[in-house]
Amino acid sequence: MTKASSQHTKPQLISLFSGCGGLDLGFIKAGFEVVWANDFDSDAQAIHELNIGKIDKRDILNVHENDIPNGDILTAGFPCQPFSNAGSRKGVYDSRGMLYKECLRIIRSKMPKVFVFENVKGLLSTKYIDGRNLVDVLLEDLATIGDIGYNVVYKLLNASDYEVPQNRQRVFFVGIRKDLGGTFQFPEKIKKHNLTLKHVLDVPKDVPNQVDWVLSPQALGMIEYIPEGGSWKDIPYEHLAPRFKKIRDDMKKYRSPNFYRRFSRDEICGTMTASAQPENCGILHPIKNRRFTIREAARIQSFPDDFKFIDDSQKNIIAMYKVIGNAVPVNLAYNIAKAIMDQVFTEK
Ligand SMILES: C[S@@+](CC[C@H](N)C(=O)[O-])C[C@H]1O[C@@H](n2cnc3c(N)ncnc32)[C@H](O)[C@@H]1O
Repeated sequence: MTKASSQHTKPQLISLFSGCGGLDLGFIKAGFEVVWANDFDSDAQAIHELNIGKIDKRDILNVHENDIPNGDILTAGFPCQPFSNAGSRKGVYDSRGMLYKECLRIIRSKMPKVFVFENVKGLLSTKYIDGRNLVDVLLEDLATIGDIGYNVVYKLLNASDYEVPQNRQRVFFVGIRKDLGGTFQFPEKIKKHNLTLKHVLDVPKDVPNQVDWVLSPQALGMIEYIPEGGSWKDIPYEHLAPRFKKIRDDMKKYRSPNFYRRFSRDEICGTMTASAQPENCGILHPIKNRRFTIREAARIQSFPDDFKFIDDSQKNIIAMYKVIGNAVPVNLAYNIAKAIMDQVFTEK
């Protein structure tokens, strides 16, 4: 592969849908420099500015390509709700599903050497308006974009294979501009080491953001019956909230959901989601009757302890779970970024 040279010492990164900066931080750690970031969510902007740097606050639909500097690499974790299994699966019919077109518009204009897209697993089974698989449409568009096109590979990765104490599956697309030659090789899995919850929950007292979003009285009333490593299935019927009784009455119909999973200290935690609801998320502390604190949730997403969050009001506390759950785990981002740095931006 021809190595890509640049007059800057660090490859310049254009960050779309930046969120609070999980993906950006991983790339910064691997030696990239964020030259432009964008997100229209005020909570994400606040945390990004506190930790990473300046962020353009407009809706990407209102950003002209000329307002964006050139870059060597473009990253985009475009919104995942329309593709998520937890959502309605309207796929590209949901207007947010069309935001990948914004990525294409900006790639066509900037033609960075590399791009990285991140998304939920559901993207892989999403249909385009004409019935084709969205992935095939994406690959076809990107193969010829800007007349040069990209060699694109994609893979479903589990964050726990890349030094993240969490089982979280996400799909990554990496494209290398065809004139540079070569195809990206995803990094090898890394042996799991110290990823179980007991290694995450030993937060020193002086680390900030050790507050939690208090569970509803109904949730509190139920979780006291869930042992470490258990789930809602351990709650005696008479202590279930009415909507859970309905599901328990016909588990087959509801396909035996695994709500209120309380991962044990000897397990790797389940996926953190933006909603931080115990129904669908690994958010309950193994032995205390509460959610993980903001700091514990951030650690499960492999944010370092010096990454700052804002916890001065109930509204902000809830927002922190959202931006943390939305983020690409820092160590996963770092391992992909490092492989890109080695394969594309380093003279051998
Ligand atoms: C999945 S999150 C990205 C998280 C990020 N990759 C990280 O690692 O922290 C998607 C982000 O896209 C932002 N977003 C959604 N629609 C947008 C739009 N039209 N313009 C700008 N940002 C948008 C959301 O506010 C959200 O923060």
